Formats: sequence, C-alpha cells, structure tokens
Amino acid sequence: MTLRHLLVTGGAGFIGSNFVRHALARDSAVRVTVLDKLTYAGNLANLADLADEPRYAFVQGDIGDPEVVDQLAAEADAIVNFAAESHVDRSIDAPDAFIQTDVHGTFVLLEAARRHGHARYLQVSTDEVYGNVATGSSSEDDPLRPRSPYSASKAAGDLLVLAYHATYGLPVLVTRASNNFGPFQYPEKIIPLFVTNAIDDEPLPLYGDGQQIRDWLFVSDHCEAISAVLERGEPGEVYNVGGGNELTNQALTNAILELLGKPATLIRRVEDRPGHDRRYSVDSAKLRALGWEPSQSFEDDLAATVAWYRDRDDWWRPLKSGEYLDYYRRQYGERLANSAMVD
Ligand code: NAD
Ligand code: TYD
Repeated sequence: MTLRHLLVTGGAGFIGSNFVRHALARDSAVRVTVLDKLTYAGNLANLADLADEPRYAFVQGDIGDPEVVDQLAAEADAIVNFAAESHVDRSIDAPDAFIQTDVHGTFVLLEAARRHGHARYLQVSTDEVYGNVATGSSSEDDPLRPRSPYSASKAAGDLLVLAYHATYGLPVLVTRASNNFGPFQYPEKIIPLFVTNAIDDEPLPLYGDGQQIRDWLFVSDHCEAISAVLERGEPGEVYNVGGGNELTNQALTNAILELLGKPATLIRRVEDRPGHDRRYSVDSAKLRALGWEPSQSFEDDLAATVAWYRDRDDWWRPLKSGEYLDYYRRQYGERLANSAMVD
C-alpha cells in the first residue's frame, strides 16, 4: 500500500513527533500534515527541525472538532492517530479528557476517514488494554481487561475502530505497543522523570515495591512497526508491538542511576498507584511475520536516551515549570513527604 499524504494526529507529542520525522525520511514522496491540540503534552519544539520541510505542515486543533478534522481529512489518504491523553496517573486524577479525546476524538476521526474514503486508518494503541498479565504474553485476540481510566478509554477507542471495519468496511489497523522510551518524552513518564530528577539530585518516587514489570520498546522501533503495519498489515487486524525487554521498575531505576553515576539514596519508595497493573507482556509474532523486528539493544538504547536528556536540558527544563509543578505537587507532594529510602 503506497500512501501519499498522511494526516498524523497527535504528531507534536512524544511518539507522534518521532514518527513524523521517521515517515518523512523513509519516503521522499510522502507528505505529512500534523493535527495537534497542543495540550500540556504537545510541544512544537519536538518538531522544530522540520520547520523548513516543504512536505510537512502543522495545524493546531482538536481531533474532537469535526470541522477541522473534515477539512484536513479531505486532503489526506490516511490517518495515523497518536492523539490521546496518555498518562495513567493523570487519568486517575481527572478522567474526563481521556473519554473526550481517546473515545470521542477517535469517533470523529473515523467518521472523517469513512466520508473521504481513506485508504488506511491506523489507531496507535497500547498493551495496557489487555490489563494485568500475571504470566505468559497477550496475543491480539485475548480479551480486553483494562483497569485504569486511561487503558479503558484506549480499549473503547480500539473497539470503535474495529467496529468501523466490520460495519462500514473501513480499512483500519490497530497497533498495541508496550512502554516506549526515547527522545522527546514528556517528563511525567518514569524514564524521563527519573533521568531528569536524578540529573538534578532530586528524589526518584518509585511506586510500591518497585517489582512491577514493563516491556521497554525504543521509540524508533515503534515507528518502524507502524510503517510496517501501514504498508503491509491486513485491514481489520490488530498487531502487538513489544520491545522484548521486560524489566522491573526497580531494575530500570538502578540502570538509570548507574548510567548517570548517581547514588541509590535518591530512590524513594512511595505509596503505590491505585489499581497498579503488575505486569504487561505482549506476543509480537504476528508483527514479526510482516518482517518487523526491534533493531537495537536495550542497554545501548537506554544509554543513548539518558545521554539525550543529559545533553538536551534546553528541551526539558522549560517543561518542568508552571502546570507541571502543580501536577507534580499534587501527584508526589504527600507521597514524598511520607516516603522511605530504599535500603
Ligand atoms: P503524548 O502524551 O506525548 O502525546 C499526545 C499528543 O496528542 C500531544 O501532542 C497532545 O497535544 C495531543 N493531543 C491530546 N489530545 C488531543 C486532541 N484532543 N486533539 C489533538 N491532539 C491532541 O503521548 P505519546 O506517549 O506520544 O503517545 C502517543 C500515542 O501512543 C497515544 O495514543 C498512546 O496511547 C499510545 N501509546 C503510548 C505508549 C507510551 O509508552 N508512551 C505506548 C503505547 C501506546
Ligand atoms: P509510566 O511511565 O507512567 O507508564 P505506564 O503506567 O503507562 O506503564 O509508568 C511505568 C511504570 O513505572 C509503572 O509501573 C508505574 C511506575 N512509576 C513509578 O514507580 N514512579 C513514577 O513516578 C512513575 C511516573 C511511574
């Protein structure tokens, strides 16, 4: 499937901005229009290097606004939807925006893709829709058992997308990726939060016993996976994307501190996240059958990521101000006051 003009929604966020760069570099004939609301997580600095690229355009707007979506969808032949409220802790604090964007926003995009006869609609989803995975790995047809407002809103979006295939024949695809890491990740997620806190000798708030497991996927491997699914995926199908790097949060934190040469005394054990999923794990065999595999080694990718944040404090320091500090106090103030050092 050759696509000529992608509408990339949420393209000013972490994964979306990495994908826009990847898509433009991969195919010199492709055009990309980004539609992004620029919420607290959206940041034009993530796309600053593309300012002079004639094949790239940026529009600020909401995926829930049918007018702007319709206008942009008319010019594109596919939508790749990254736009979402994406942070579990914020979904526990204030779920409303998650329902608006992740569910209703998805609906508005699907309607536009249908109206304009798009060749592809790709929904960027998450392994969190499967819920807690005590043993083994989730496959694409496993039941969805989301347990946070975030993962429930993403699961609802996935189901709507798949219904548009069954009902209207829209050529949809769904990818469900594991935890991403890499450059331009907003410093509320564990890796950029812990790296930037450690650089400043600030405490690292580790939830509960720190034995929860996540499977880490380098963002460029995720971008490759999305391209593979867009080009060679079967419409109506779901594809898991796992990094194959399962690690406890404690082990991840130790690795970050070691890379930065910082002491373990920075770690604070704080009150756990309510409903905290212990483990996610996906089986990516279906995607591997399309010819995809994660390309690099986790240790090198983590080291490169830590080095990126060390070099780019011009990018993250401005983010750790204003609304972020209000969020940080709400999220961590009391927990850190009642915290213990890890011995
Ligand atoms: P992010 O929070 O960094 O970026 C989200 C972007 O969407 C921001 O630029 C924001 O401004 C934009 N946005 C939010 N609401 C919008 C709206 N109503 N209209 C238009 N734009 C809006 O998120 P991310 O980590 O880059 O995640 C991107 C996608 O990938 C999400 O759908 C997320 O569920 C999914 N995902 C993320 C991960 C991960 O580890 N980060 C893993 C698997 C899947
Ligand atoms: P996060 O980066 O928020 O991603 P997700 O919840 O979508 O997996 O969290 C990754 C893991 O790190 C998760 O088990 C929660 C844990 N965590 C902490 O221990 N402390 C923190 O301050 C944060 C943000 C996360």
